Amino acid sequence: MTGYTALDIERLRTKALSISDLRELAKRHLPRGIFEYVARGTDEDRALDGNARAFDEIEICPRVVQDVSGATAQCSILGKPSAAPLAISPTGFASLLWLDGEIGSAKAAAAAGIPFALSTGSITPMERVKEEAGGRLWLQLYVWPQREMTRELIDRARKADYEALIVTVDTPVAPFRPYNLKNGFSIPFRLSSRNALDIMCHPRWLFNVVFRRYLRSGPMVAENYPQQLRVPVKAAKVGKFNLPFSDNVSWEDIREFRRLWDGPLLIKGIMHPDDAAQAVNAGADGVIVSNHGGRNLDASIAPIRALPSIVDRIGGKATVLLDSGVTRGSDIAKAVAMGASGVMVGKAGLFGVAAAGQPGAQRAIEILVEELLRVMIFSGARELRDLDHHLLRLPADFRRGSYGVDAAAAATASQRRGG
Ligand SMILES: Cc1cc2nc3c(=O)[nH]c(=O)nc-3n(C[C@H](O)[C@H](O)[C@H](O)COP(=O)(O)O)c2cc1C
Repeated sequence: MTGYTALDIERLRTKALSISDLRELAKRHLPRGIFEYVARGTDEDRALDGNARAFDEIEICPRVVQDVSGATAQCSILGKPSAAPLAISPTGFASLLWLDGEIGSAKAAAAAGIPFALSTGSITPMERVKEEAGGRLWLQLYVWPQREMTRELIDRARKADYEALIVTVDTPVAPFRPYNLKNGFSIPFRLSSRNALDIMCHPRWLFNVVFRRYLRSGPMVAENYPQQLRVPVKAAKVGKFNLPFSDNVSWEDIREFRRLWDGPLLIKGIMHPDDAAQAVNAGADGVIVSNHGGRNLDASIAPIRALPSIVDRIGGKATVLLDSGVTRGSDIAKAVAMGASGVMVGKAGLFGVAAAGQPGAQRAIEILVEELLRVMIFSGARELRDLDHHLLRLPADFRRGSYGVDAAAAATASQRRGG
């Protein structure tokens, strides 16, 4: 039987020295099915592994005898100051990990001085997150097949005074997650001997996350969903109605969202330079280069590999953020050196929340920022602008402006095939 004890930030500073440590604590605290929902990818986890491998393939050449006293990671993201080039990615159902998990994460981000993005699939309503956490809040939007529902959500975000809107465009269909079918935590959730045993082996999670929430507010519901779709999480269905997958989102939709939303607009899930250019043409202020943390297309290239060609195309005109695979400060330094305005983290923050609620999320951010500063100092960088691609040794197929495929040769090959 596994459990957890409440950990404050001081204890976490000795117990969790890296994001991997927080991952281990999260694994102990959560039923296996929930842990896998957070930690794994899709199909055979190839994109998930590829995201980490791509960061590992980049090396940093240290610079010495530089005055790096007073090094700082402060920067500006979307025109406002941020303590570091870091923001929290939107993740659905964070309250499945810790009671009011979304509020804990948002408070940790606010305390650290970085932006927090709330998911359409949040269990806590956006208005409550705004009231209790404050800080810089962005709302992530999935596009429903019924567009009027999406418009309502934009209206709600405006009334709740969210700073920026993120439209996620990389999920036109439900991804295939075989591990959830095997571990019994698929959607809709059905109690089986397997998942019941898993849950019973984590009584503290069951009490603190499920029972306390149930006694206070009833079953967990995705509170940002339009009223007619708000069903208990355990009864949600994959399909066109309950979960917001749209396979016909167009750039015209994005233009419409642009007209409806006055604040900064980011398009999330952009991996190709042509799509990045389209997003900017449609009025977006920036893009998030992301393969959803390796959770959607298992054959996807890693975002850090896609980054140079996107920066080449729209850098200077728009904000370029990156997520997927960031687990260390050196990953942040590499992305910034390759032209990203900043990075976002999904799993790293969730492991913190699952390990210890708000202090856990705070510890995750602290680890990443401390590591980033250390890497900057070793690299001779006093400020973020001192990080540039000359410090990096990139594998040959990371060339700027290319995917490592000779575009002309690829076009000729496809013509030969008649494609
Ligand atoms: C458990 C979980 C839930 C997620 N839910 C959403 C979501 O509701 N909306 C969204 O745009 N992205 C969602 N994502 C993707 C993240 O926003 C982000 O792109 C990804 O986690 C970044 O990769 P990383 O986890 O390696 O940092 C989710 C990711 C995880 C791990």
